[in-house]
Amino acid sequence: MSFEVKVVEAGGTDALLWKQARFDGLAPDEVRLRHTAIGVNYIDVYFRSGVYQSPVMPFTPGLEAAGVVTAVGSEVADLDVGDRVAYASPPLGAYSEERSMPADRLIRLPNSIDDRIAAAVMLKGMTVQYLLRTTFRVGSDTTLLIHAAAGGVGTIACQWAKYLGATVIGTVGSESKAETAISHGCDYPILYRDEDFVSRVDEITSGRGVDVVYDSVGKQTFMKSLECLRPLGMMVLFGQSSGAVDPISPSVLQDKGSLFLTRPTLMTYTAHRKDLEACAGELLELIAKDVVKPDIRQEFPLREAAAAHIALESRSTQGATLLIP
Ligand SMILES: NC(=O)c1ccc[n+]([C@@H]2O[C@H](COP(=O)([O-])OP(=O)(O)OC[C@H]3O[C@@H](n4cnc5c(N)ncnc54)[C@H](OP(=O)(O)O)[C@@H]3O)[C@@H](O)[C@H]2O)c1
Repeated sequence: MSFEVKVVEAGGTDALLWKQARFDGLAPDEVRLRHTAIGVNYIDVYFRSGVYQSPVMPFTPGLEAAGVVTAVGSEVADLDVGDRVAYASPPLGAYSEERSMPADRLIRLPNSIDDRIAAAVMLKGMTVQYLLRTTFRVGSDTTLLIHAAAGGVGTIACQWAKYLGATVIGTVGSESKAETAISHGCDYPILYRDEDFVSRVDEITSGRGVDVVYDSVGKQTFMKSLECLRPLGMMVLFGQSSGAVDPISPSVLQDKGSLFLTRPTLMTYTAHRKDLEACAGELLELIAKDVVKPDIRQEFPLREAAAAHIALESRSTQGATLLIP
């Protein structure tokens, strides 16, 4: 018998119910997993609250976890019972003690990476990989702005961008978050609740503007983020923790200096197995080199997932948050 978190009706944190799980058998292309650590991500909040629609109802939230293979479908050739794996991918269902998962979405874990690290880094780290290496190719001549620089994605982005030699400007919600961002490689933390980040960026870049903005806060920052870009700069809107951005006219991009705008998601960048392997491969390499070091600051028992969501939504977390089955 195993248990899972279930959402029967989207809503507040009380929508996260602790229920006995049902196992209907394994499809030929699936494996059965016993989770050992589960990553909490802001996207889980969007699904729980109904900002994003789950394709099935009721559903178990969660897109990131590590675990052990306990059974293998008849068509799965490259995984065995006992293998340690991790994933950051649909289908939803990571908030569970056990689950079935399509085998081609799993990444085998090297012995050097423990389960908690893997669960803290797969989704956030692969996101940083595509954002910094593909969406906009960050290099030593890049000056970038990233919001929520002390968060789960933010801390890894600071580490990775610093490793690539970039100048990193990051917004943060408190003094303590500023210290966290600095410790992960942020050169210029901006306390955006107290100071205007547009004028601070102008000052830091001597009026030039940044090459790229990575904006995951959305509604509260989007228009101001555009102001921070140099002509022909790239606006990467990759989240909306403060709410969905209001529609804009394309001519806004013209007026502000022929800007580029993209709204990417990890799921597109890793939809094909070869892209998933390349993305995860580069991430695992940088973990092995000690460049990417997930900062696990919060852990909750799986059945207390609601407490994890309350912490994340109230902006009181830093680094990564885990659920432990
Ligand atoms: N598109 C993709 O592929 C992709 C993949 C992964 C994550 N994401 C996005 O990246 C963002 C970060 O995800 P995460 O899981 O690492 O979360 P996180 O950054 O650890 O937590 C969210 C942070 O956002 C900031 N924030 C600003 N305004 C907020 C508000 N009104 N309500 C709540 N938080 C607010 C807070 O930091 P401060 O206090 O410092 O402002 C808060 O700590 C999310 O928007 C997520 O959807 C996108």
